[in-house]
Amino acid sequence: MTIQIITIDGPSGSGKGTLAAKLADHYQYHLLDSGALYRLLGLSLQNKALIDALDDEPVLKQSVTIAANLDIQFKNSASGTIVLLDNQDVTQAIRTERVGELASKVAAIPALRAALVDRQHAFAQPPGLVADGRDMATSIFPQAQAKIYLTASAESRAERRVKQLQGMGLDVKISDILSNIQARDNRDMERAVAPLKPAEDAYIIDSSELNIDEVFKLMTDYVDAQLDK
Ligand code: DC
Repeated sequence: MTIQIITIDGPSGSGKGTLAAKLADHYQYHLLDSGALYRLLGLSLQNKALIDALDDEPVLKQSVTIAANLDIQFKNSASGTIVLLDNQDVTQAIRTERVGELASKVAAIPALRAALVDRQHAFAQPPGLVADGRDMATSIFPQAQAKIYLTASAESRAERRVKQLQGMGLDVKISDILSNIQARDNRDMERAVAPLKPAEDAYIIDSSELNIDEVFKLMTDYVDAQLDK
């Protein structure tokens, strides 16, 4: 049986996470949140006080071993997915801006990316997978039947992020969030290995002026057409 794979790549704040979860639910496929793996690795290397010494060859080697052996679990619960690192609930902890920065830092290091490849491939299980990330179509699952690139202007992504953080009771300035987003975009798009860019055969959606339901409709129309081929 062929495992159907739908990839969704794009910058942070484009709505990828929400839409990937909705698609996985709709098609009853498995879900890979690859960004969570980078976040978990960033957090783990910070907990072990290695994150600031990755330029040092032995520390990098040790970190590659840690990456390949990360003790993580994704558990479904009524309130969403619970993420465990070394049996500790880090569901909230990995969503902070700070851990996002750590993730972006480890994601720029080729040896650490390579150490996470097998783990990502292991998510491809019947009947199918929705894989959310930056390089799902260009490097991890180039054989995917449906490849979506979801983007949005930096300004609209910053506005969404501010609303999300305010909803969590945090007091944030849009200018700070916008400059974080721009810095992260630059780092993700300009790194030498697996930079963020659409696959040549990707279906590109700009969600700046669209709501979730509108984007979801575009996606399912496209995916249905691809899976029928
Ligand atoms: O999607 P996210 O914000 O959770 O991703 C966190 C960081 O990990 C982000 O800076 C980009 C990086 N990342 C990556 O390089 N490749 C992926 N497939 C997923 C995320």
